[in-house]
Amino acid sequence: MSFDTRSAAFAYLRTYYSAAALDREDTFLLDATIDGIEHARRVAVAAGQSLRCLELGCGPVAAWALCPGAVAGELWLAERSQGGRQVLHEWLTGDREAFDWSVYAAHVAKRMVELVVMHSVADAISGTPEEFAALVSSAARLVAPRGSLLISVNTEVDEWHAEAVAFPQVRLSCDQVLAAIEGAGLQAVFSRQRSRLPDGKDTETAHTMVVLADKPPRAE
Ligand SMILES: C[S@@+](CC[C@H](N)C(=O)[O-])C[C@H]1O[C@@H](n2cnc3c(N)ncnc32)[C@H](O)[C@@H]1O
Repeated sequence: MSFDTRSAAFAYLRTYYSAAALDREDTFLLDATIDGIEHARRVAVAAGQSLRCLELGCGPVAAWALCPGAVAGELWLAERSQGGRQVLHEWLTGDREAFDWSVYAAHVAKRMVELVVMHSVADAISGTPEEFAALVSSAARLVAPRGSLLISVNTEVDEWHAEAVAFPQVRLSCDQVLAAIEGAGLQAVFSRQRSRLPDGKDTETAHTMVVLADKPPRAE
């Protein structure tokens, strides 16, 4: 089979793909593709190379190319049909009539981050320890399996400043920070604290705390 025309290629997309939401088949294939790419990339990196990827018979479909697209040094797409290439080209060039692959891209983006860095964010915008823990869990969901979260938190303070303007924040102990990280399914690799004394205001327990925490591999 082949897509001789644009309308034939679009009929295929309407039958098997949705711009509105992913179904279980989509996430099954996306996750397996991402896992395969992570494996191939580790092999390439160990050999001192970047990942080069060729997708054969992509048709009018960008979904699978999004996965290596985020990490590959080179990405090649091969499709023999004119209709398939035309529809894909519309998407690559941002044509307004192109099929919308946003929900696929959002799923890939969620999965492909090896390191999330957050300095003075979750503590600065939380009002309670529970809100802080929920934000850490949200960030942890963006970390790929075997990836890491690097987070810094100002402990045992109630506010932070931008010149004369003060902003309230949740008061957290180091133990609460570590508990939130553990509760998010991450394992601390290191935890460093630096006293914020002397600044005349904070208590002796006020620290700048930095934690690096790993996400375990995905269960097979
Ligand atoms: C069923 S479609 C699958 C399209 C897409 N891979 C997907 O996951 O939806 C099969 C595709 O293989 C393409 N194809 C068939 N023979 C090919 C060849 N020799 N080289 C490249 N593409 C080919 C067809 O044009 C068609 O786009």
